[in-house]
Amino acid sequence: MKIVLISASPRKNNSQTFALAQEVIKGCNPEQLETIHLCDYKIEFCRHCERCHRKIMDCPIKDDVLKIMKKMLAADGIILASPNYIDCVTASMKALFDRSTHFIHCKRLLGKYIAGVVSSGAGYDEPVVNYIKHYALTCGAQFAGSISSRAPVDEKTKEKARVFGEKLHSIIKNKKTFKNQLKIIEQGKAEFKDLIILRKDSWRGEYEYWKKQNWI
Ligand SMILES: Cc1cc2nc3c(=O)[nH]c(=O)nc-3n(C[C@H](O)[C@H](O)[C@H](O)COP(=O)(O)O)c2cc1C
Repeated sequence: MKIVLISASPRKNNSQTFALAQEVIKGCNPEQLETIHLCDYKIEFCRHCERCHRKIMDCPIKDDVLKIMKKMLAADGIILASPNYIDCVTASMKALFDRSTHFIHCKRLLGKYIAGVVSSGAGYDEPVVNYIKHYALTCGAQFAGSISSRAPVDEKTKEKARVFGEKLHSIIKNKKTFKNQLKIIEQGKAEFKDLIILRKDSWRGEYEYWKKQNWI
């Protein structure tokens, strides 16, 4: 099992969110782990040029985003760890999401699992977790759940995180299906099918991808 942990706190090793995510990793105990601190990577904003839709996994911006996206594609499970910044993920994680709309158009994370890890000052995590879940489903991945904490993370929550990590391991290993989520993913795919056909001349690469999958 290969896990990619994407940590979106600029505080890197001093991050409470990362500390919580590390407990999840302890419980999950994956054979392969790749840790990405987004603050170590250059991530510019999406310019909406649509090149990635014409020619998939291509982008005129020469930064580190494609490198990260390739690691996401190679993983069985992706842990998205972000502090609550004004009831959303941090700007670096949002920028990564915005740059990966090809994943949404082509449901590139189908068969994968995404888990959320959130920390906050006030202990209110709901909109952040919901946003991470929305990203997962819209990219085709199932959402395996989340763990949250008010900072600083205490021992009890760390233990909960390890238990959640064990559960995550089992979900990925046994390829657990979340029926309601699969329904939402299928609905999203049906909506995109119409769009991909409508835009087939401008979104050439993605249209070809859909054809190759026998989805159209
Ligand atoms: C720009 C910014 C915005 C924040 N917004 C919120 C917020 O809306 N709600 C909240 O509970 N905490 C908020 N916080 C506090 C952080 O979520 C909290 O300290 C978190 O544990 C930091 O995680 P880290 O140590 O992983 O960076 C904010 C912090 C910053 C720097």
